[in-house]
Amino acid sequence: MCGIVGYVGTSKSVEVLLGGLRRLEYRGYDSAGIAVIDPDGDLHTRKRAGKLQILVDDLDLAAMANGSTGIGHTRWATHGGPNDQNAHPHLGDDGKLALIHNGIIENFAELKNELMEQHPETVFTSETDSEVAALLVGLEYQRVGDLAEALRLVVARLHGAFTLLVLHKDQPGVVVGARRNSPLVIGLGDGENFLGSDVAAFVEHTRRAVAIGQDQIVTITADAVTVTDFDGAPVESEEFDIAWDAAAAEKGGWSSFMAKEISEEPDAIANTLRGRIVDGAVRLTELDPAASTKPGSAASAGLDLTGVNRIVILGCGTAAYSGMLAKYAIEKWAKLPVDVELSHEFRYRDPVIDASTLVISVSQSGETMDTLMAVKYAVANGARTLSICNTQGATIPRESDAVIYTHAGPEVAVASTKAFVAQVAAFYLFGLHLAAVRGTLPKEEISDLLDELQALPEQLATVLEQHDAIKQLAGWMTDTRAVLFLGRHAGFPVALEGALKLKELAYIHAEGFAAGELKHGPIALIEPGQPVFVVVPSPRGRDSLHPKVVSNIQEIRARGARILAIAEQGDAAVLPYADVVIPIPLASTLFEPLLAVAPLQIFAMELAAAKGLDVDQPRNLAKSVTVE
Ligand code: M6R
Repeated sequence: MCGIVGYVGTSKSVEVLLGGLRRLEYRGYDSAGIAVIDPDGDLHTRKRAGKLQILVDDLDLAAMANGSTGIGHTRWATHGGPNDQNAHPHLGDDGKLALIHNGIIENFAELKNELMEQHPETVFTSETDSEVAALLVGLEYQRVGDLAEALRLVVARLHGAFTLLVLHKDQPGVVVGARRNSPLVIGLGDGENFLGSDVAAFVEHTRRAVAIGQDQIVTITADAVTVTDFDGAPVESEEFDIAWDAAAAEKGGWSSFMAKEISEEPDAIANTLRGRIVDGAVRLTELDPAASTKPGSAASAGLDLTGVNRIVILGCGTAAYSGMLAKYAIEKWAKLPVDVELSHEFRYRDPVIDASTLVISVSQSGETMDTLMAVKYAVANGARTLSICNTQGATIPRESDAVIYTHAGPEVAVASTKAFVAQVAAFYLFGLHLAAVRGTLPKEEISDLLDELQALPEQLATVLEQHDAIKQLAGWMTDTRAVLFLGRHAGFPVALEGALKLKELAYIHAEGFAAGELKHGPIALIEPGQPVFVVVPSPRGRDSLHPKVVSNIQEIRARGARILAIAEQGDAAVLPYADVVIPIPLASTLFEPLLAVAPLQIFAMELAAAKGLDVDQPRNLAKSVTVE
């Protein structure tokens, strides 16, 4: 959701801000704006509804171009529609102060009423909660004459989630930010400093970053960075190196970020496994006590797994589907009960958790508000917490006892692809680690499973070679109005993910079902010509569900369904009943999803592209969902 950039230095801030906003476009937005203080100390702002280019075309560069202090914003509308008035920045202190905001100020109506009572002369120019914050900071500034102090006084009165950046014409060369339950990261340069919603905002200028903790205020100038808590007490922050460079977040010749990111899936798995498998065993040093991720909690025990008798996995969307696969793997390998729950449902139903519960959150961005709030609930109720996350310095890992980072690299397309396979790989590593700790699998079996895991990148690369054939299939189906996806056991989350991809990218009604559930209702949807993707398990293996899935195929084929099967190479039992077979290499049951999901991702992407849709930024969606 909203993208935020702040800059103080010697470069032309307009260029830095627009470059940062471009890199943050992937978060999803519907308007954009910037505020710049020019060398004469005048404040210039511009904001426009629509794409960033509309703002760029409208900039008064003659006035702004040489300013070297500025803030920039892309807005994803919450309070008030996506129009010029509601776009950020908002102004305070008679137009001398500019503010940008990500998040939702829950008590804004109350604060607005108070403002109108105490200052009836106040003119509101937008419907936003953010403008109320700008006006309040402006009033405090008039009183105390210091921007950081004014912001500190206001944030103490705000409820909800926010990242705020402010600048004031009377304090040129200063940008102040504050955050609660919403992301903000510092970029450290040489004679220049940056602020951003995530490191993508400034990675083309510096790879040195500092994560800002919960309820903290940061002041940047060209030469200094100061961080305090909301009471004004200085806090120490940890610096980290950004693991990828600006080129990693470029399209690099691909037609879309999504196409590029699917092509990177083998590397995403390999990089997530790298260094974590040693002599046939899992080595996750990040779970050691010394590796605790909680700021200021040196006493934290890292991730002590002793006495854990239950696991709860929390995530949303694609991340939750990776959690379903983790459930199957952990229960099978480590013999611990695992529940998977959508983060936004979890904390509102009085879940039973305690110190013997391990809560694992999974999130590509590490900023999903629903998951963050669920993790906080888990912490408050004494659970142990582990985060599986793809973004360094993000909030969710910082709130957790330990983190296993996936190393998928930056995922820019809104639809998650390579992050999913990396999440599953990380979960499987953890599941096998847990099996070793609990002694539920012999060492040799763990070693064999790790060998299979390590073979997956190469196998997946062969699946991706079928891209053109899948594209052709998608091209034939642009008039399709609904598609069903079936799978059983490990194929079920793949079916759900295939349906989600098609909905979000191609705007086609799609449903994923457990194949066994079909005859309990959904089979009524089958009519002649209805396309149904079926994820077919391998025919090998003692407990293979293969015969049952083949029966399910026959049941729907008898009613006219068009069968699009993803099946093991050479699976002769499927051929007579399938209209199309997309072959995948032999893999055991739990590893098959990592091979079967890519064809469904490619299908959804190519169908959307064939319909002329924007596959990287589908309508209404945001990459990082930072409001509840
Ligand atoms: O950043 P997260 O992994 O926490 O995001 C969770 C979901 O919002 C995300 O997976 C979403 O479902 C994607 N659009 C799926 O493609």
